[in-house]
Amino acid sequence: MPDPNRDYLTLALNQYWFAPPVALWRAIELRVLAAETFIRPLLDLGCGDGLIAQVLFAGEAPVEAGFDPWLSQVRKAPASGAYRFVQQARGDAMPYPDASFNTVFSNSVLEHIPNLDPVLREVTRVLRPGGRFLATVPSDMFRRLLAGYRERDAKGDRTGAETYAAAVDRRLEHHRYLTPTQWAKRLDLAGMHLLHTRYYIPSEVEALWDRANATYGIHPNDTLFHGKPYYRWLASPRLRQLGYQKLVRRWIVRTLGQRWRRAYTLDVLEGGVGGGLLVVGEKT
Ligand SMILES: C[S@@+](CC[C@H](N)C(=O)[O-])C[C@H]1O[C@@H](n2cnc3c(N)ncnc32)[C@H](O)[C@@H]1O
Repeated sequence: MPDPNRDYLTLALNQYWFAPPVALWRAIELRVLAAETFIRPLLDLGCGDGLIAQVLFAGEAPVEAGFDPWLSQVRKAPASGAYRFVQQARGDAMPYPDASFNTVFSNSVLEHIPNLDPVLREVTRVLRPGGRFLATVPSDMFRRLLAGYRERDAKGDRTGAETYAAAVDRRLEHHRYLTPTQWAKRLDLAGMHLLHTRYYIPSEVEALWDRANATYGIHPNDTLFHGKPYYRWLASPRLRQLGYQKLVRRWIVRTLGQRWRRAYTLDVLEGGVGGGLLVVGEKT
């Protein structure tokens, strides 16, 4: 089982030092997922390069299967050592027999898929009866908790706030933000029932994350974000052979590992909302 007490912030900063806000978001997702139960056999839907499974299940037997449609990512995944099998596939056509898995999980994937229902039906098909589906997604509060949205909204500039959020949607390729009730309906349509949801990334952490995207040049070409692309240049893979990036990485891990510690550990208060949502369903 994943260890909820591991220092996922340091691990994520080491992996994503070139994009520190991604590391913060991933570290919190890992902490949230690590508190859940994963019964084998396990499938990673939209595994990307495998880094999440590698960190989450470190020291355990490899995850039984992972797949992703993005060829360059899926080619990297076997090197992570995190999977027994990795395949290139799409969520609406999974290359597995019915009832193959006890758990399907997907980290930051479903929001990128335009047509969700066929994917949820496939999850149900490959799960065994009573099997669980765990997904982390941006929540229905994600747009309104962005610092850029709140600053504009507080000045009465609702149009500016919406324009800002729409630019974030475009850049991150997010297709939807469902409420827990809407998730319950979508899972139900696919043959699962919602066991529970959990908000994470409280508003002050999402504001920090949003501002950090500008600081670290994650939105370099969009004047809306006042992006400063310097860090992005510094971390560019094209400059890797100059050798200084090891020092940048060490500096990022040390400084942000301390500065962002509180944000990493901050939970959403009971009954509150956050920018991220863990959705846990069960095959009925
Ligand atoms: C933000 S990345 C997350 C990757 C990985 N789960 C992680 O947490 O690092 C989103 C992933 O969703 C994958 N994806 C996009 N459309 C998909 C689809 N139709 N079926 C499965 N995966 C999809 C992308 O290829 C990409 O690897």
